[in-house]
Amino acid sequence: MEVVIVPDAKAGGELIAEAIAALLRRKPDALLGVATGSTPLPVYQALQAKVRSGAVDPSRARICQLDEYVGLPADHPESYRSTVLRQVVEPLGLTVDSFMGPDGTAEDVQGACDAYDRALAEAGGVDLQLLGIGTDGHIGFNEPCSSLASRTRIKTLTEQTRVDNARFFDGDIDQVPHHVITQGIGTILEARHLVLLATGAGKADAVAASVEGPVSALVPASALQLHPHATVVVDEAAAAKL
Ligand code: GLP
Repeated sequence: MEVVIVPDAKAGGELIAEAIAALLRRKPDALLGVATGSTPLPVYQALQAKVRSGAVDPSRARICQLDEYVGLPADHPESYRSTVLRQVVEPLGLTVDSFMGPDGTAEDVQGACDAYDRALAEAGGVDLQLLGIGTDGHIGFNEPCSSLASRTRIKTLTEQTRVDNARFFDGDIDQVPHHVITQGIGTILEARHLVLLATGAGKADAVAASVEGPVSALVPASALQLHPHATVVVDEAAAAKL
């Protein structure tokens, strides 16, 4: 695992956007796994700036989702499908045809999870998976105690994660779904390159436990220690406890 400490979130965004641009120059139809939350936004902004300046052509890139709320209509503004389309796919000038995600509205949720795992494999696997980290060390929506070998499946959110995510639902925790679909930790570990970005003092404990603690299901992001090509980019505040 490579740990890169950058001065601030903007610098982290720049660094990761350049890694994505380099991948797309090498492999124009790369499958790029993206994350939601506030942390990756500087990555998307820096990548869009590179596209505008002609430094990279994303027109053949493919984008896939990490996780999704269960039960939110697909066109709900806070579904992760809508979020990724709005924050990544459309600004890069791509269409919905270049995008894949799990169906959070399916009646057979586990069937939708299995179908998504198969679709990722059939697409040739994820080339670079961008990850954020929850304050409790979760990746995707793999909460503490998730099996390190887990596949895409339905999970119940912890109270802490629902509190953390209430800001996207007018601050009202009652609007935050209880259930989600997430790529499993085993699924995430199949991506060829994992890039985790963590910024801000609120992530310092989770970063220290993930990078320097034992590999443990109690800290899902510690599974990155098992991956042959994992990069953890942290700003100085998030690195404070390393
Ligand atoms: C959610 C997402 C994660 C994300 C996490 C942290 O739980 N499912 O993929 O990493 O939030 O979000 P933020 O970057 O806003 O702190």
